[in-house]
Amino acid sequence: MTDQTAVTEKPKAVPTLPNAAKVTEVTHWTDRLFSFKVERPQTLRFRSGEFVMIGLMNDPDPVTGKQKPLLRAYSIASPSWDEEMEFYSIKVQDGPLTSKLQHIKVGDEIILRPKPVGTLVTDAILPGKRLWMFATGTGVAPFASLMRDPDVYEKFDEIILMHTCREVGELEYGRKLVEHIKSDEMLSEIEAGKLRYYPTTTREEFHHMGRVTDNLTSGKVFEDLGVEPLNPDTDRGMVCGNLAFNKDIMAILDGFGLREGANSEPKEYVVEKAFVD
Ligand SMILES: Cc1cc2nc3c(=O)[nH]c(=O)nc-3n(C[C@H](O)[C@H](O)[C@H](O)COP(=O)(O)OP(=O)(O)OC[C@H]3O[C@@H](n4cnc5c(N)ncnc54)[C@H](O)[C@@H]3O)c2cc1C
Ligand SMILES: NC(=O)c1ccc[n+]([C@@H]2O[C@H](COP(=O)([O-])OP(=O)(O)OC[C@H]3O[C@@H](n4cnc5c(N)ncnc54)[C@H](OP(=O)(O)O)[C@@H]3O)[C@@H](O)[C@H]2O)c1
Repeated sequence: MTDQTAVTEKPKAVPTLPNAAKVTEVTHWTDRLFSFKVERPQTLRFRSGEFVMIGLMNDPDPVTGKQKPLLRAYSIASPSWDEEMEFYSIKVQDGPLTSKLQHIKVGDEIILRPKPVGTLVTDAILPGKRLWMFATGTGVAPFASLMRDPDVYEKFDEIILMHTCREVGELEYGRKLVEHIKSDEMLSEIEAGKLRYYPTTTREEFHHMGRVTDNLTSGKVFEDLGVEPLNPDTDRGMVCGNLAFNKDIMAILDGFGLREGANSEPKEYVVEKAFVD
């Protein structure tokens, strides 16, 4: 007698992800932060500083069994010339996406929608001498991209990254990246000593402390770095943080005489949300 089950059983369909990108590297920085790299789709072009929608398939609907993509906006943390794409992510324990995304491993696939957009691009600011990058938390991600882009160093004499987190460990991704840029043979030649790094914490002892906003209004950062206060003739800004931070720093930049620009109308500074509350 033949084994009927073996004859009638069809091979199970393996669901293929739409816009799938294979994970090539995962690094966990703290219990709340991780970064990962994926293969870059050959046709995907973007400007350093832009964001895309990425995600995973949602759990099957309990009634229909159908699965829908669960997507979130993510800044591309790698520069536009890189063959791989890097992302720097929060882990929200009850977050629909990141409660799952934090468990991805090398060889897994994510969904990567190939439609990059965003305002944190050099095209959206007027030429200037000094570019300030103001970030809190994962808001450093678009600057991780821009800091590695030769275009930024061609356009500006000095680039200053101010990054603030609650704790020292949350600064590590940015710190290591700056260290890498300054020691890597190719990147250090492009950077040519133009990149300055001003990390601060707000809730753990560190050699520099305080909110980005407070260090600007008190003048402490200008004193510490030995630079002139912000001037609309020479200084340009890019902002990426939580909503309250963005609002507060915009008022400060406006106070220094800088104006908010956009892709369609470049001015002295641009802003993007690092996440939606
Ligand atoms: C333009 C844009 C770019 C973004 N880029 C990034 C990025 O590069 N890296 C990244 O981790 N997130 C980024 N985000 C946030 C991201 O889209 C998701 O919100 C995040 O991945 C959490 O998804 P979730 O489904 O797990 O939880 P959600 O339901 O999306 O969020 C739950 C709550 O977690 C908090 N939260 C969400 N994201 C963050 C964060 N990044 N830092 C601190 N708290 C957060 C908020 O309080 C939010 O209400 C970006 C958002 C926008 C609008
Ligand atoms: N970071 C953690 O250890 C931690 C742990 C568990 C849960 N969470 C939750 O996760 C969410 C995001 O936390 P997060 O730490 O990633 O991001 P965050 O709350 O945006 O804080 C990041 C940094 O931005 C500063 N900041 C916040 N608002 C500001 C403003 N208006 N102007 C200037 N600086 C400002 C913070 O300073 P201050 O410290 O002065 O606010 C902190 O140094 C929050 O809801 C938080 O409760 C965070």
